[in-house]
Amino acid sequence: MGAVSSTTESVVPVGPAASPLVRALRGERTDRLPVWFMRQAGRSLPEYRELRVGTRMLDACLTPDLAAEITLQPVRRHGVDAGIFFSDIVVPLRLAGISVEIEPGRGPVFADPVRTASDVARIVQIDPEVVAQAEPIREAVRLVVAELGDTPLIGFAGAPFTLAAYLVEGGPSKEHLRARAMMHADPESWHALAGWLARVSRAFLGAQTDAGVSAVQLFDSWAGSLSVADYRAFVAPHSRAALAGAGAPRIHFGVGTNHLLPDMRLEGTTDAVGVDWRTPLDEAARVLGPDVTVQGNIDPALLQAPWEVIEAHVRDVVERGRAARAHILNLGHGVPPETDPDVLTRIVALAHEVGV
Ligand code: CP3
Repeated sequence: MGAVSSTTESVVPVGPAASPLVRALRGERTDRLPVWFMRQAGRSLPEYRELRVGTRMLDACLTPDLAAEITLQPVRRHGVDAGIFFSDIVVPLRLAGISVEIEPGRGPVFADPVRTASDVARIVQIDPEVVAQAEPIREAVRLVVAELGDTPLIGFAGAPFTLAAYLVEGGPSKEHLRARAMMHADPESWHALAGWLARVSRAFLGAQTDAGVSAVQLFDSWAGSLSVADYRAFVAPHSRAALAGAGAPRIHFGVGTNHLLPDMRLEGTTDAVGVDWRTPLDEAARVLGPDVTVQGNIDPALLQAPWEVIEAHVRDVVERGRAARAHILNLGHGVPPETDPDVLTRIVALAHEVGV
């Protein structure tokens, strides 16, 4: 199944390359509004909770048939326009030999936080090539791509800052103070660490694109905690490096990034910017300009509301999304675990009924 079929006159995309999602990333509007949900694979689905019994999160990510099945569950159930590869932003760090676990209800926890210049000097010795070659990742992606047919699979990685926010702290934190402090206290170590994390994320994306994903998303979930000046000086160059030469269309997402939106285009290194629920999409489109697609931005809190309220909100999001060159409907952040999955299925049906 090639991505293009050549005729004597023209090259016509077929398969996932012709899907509404990939076309939206190229800036085209088709007759179908593409929709998927961040964290669509996971705890909101009873079939996920059942499969995960007895297996730790990161072990599940590194078991190809399990990761493939979990990736496919929400595509079958909701009829979304893309799968998102079931993995985690810290998986490449585990693959690089760093001791990390995901604690349920808490998040990633590192046995040895990377805080000093000598911690950084030690860690940057690790060759990201082990991540690029990771067979469990490649195998899981191949299994999913074979099942999905014309539906695209989105690969992903954590952006260097969001990864550093966990790695320097040693676990989840509110304001990511230790990582932000390192930027100013020891800029040399910061750049060494962020540069290494960019190579690791690039290698993780490369393993997924080699194995057949049709698009990639870089999650900089915690970038909103940075000032514009710090984002430009200490973060954006490393995120650009993580996405450089990805070999597939790119989405760049962060939470609380209204003040960073123009910078999140990464000087043309991204095809779409993911917007959280705080910024209306027409406003985001105005700030971002005509050369980028917008993704978002249903408020995850509204998933608990009566259907009439949700429907009005989704219609408003779709309407505002028309201000952009193209729109991919999504939430403004991940699916909360307590979400009724039937609500997500109804939103997909509504998106497809409303169209572009
Ligand atoms: O459906 C999907 O989106 C695909 C899989 C995916 C997961 N994590 C699975 C997961 C993706 C894309 C991620 C990215 C991720 N991981 C991010 C960026 C996105 C975001 O939400 O901002 C971040 C910050 C992480 C780190 C992380 N991993 C956190 C904060 C948590 C939650 C901890 C908790 O229990 O509340 C995880 C665990 C995690 N990653 C789960 C899943 C399905 C839950 C694990 C479980 O089932 O116990």
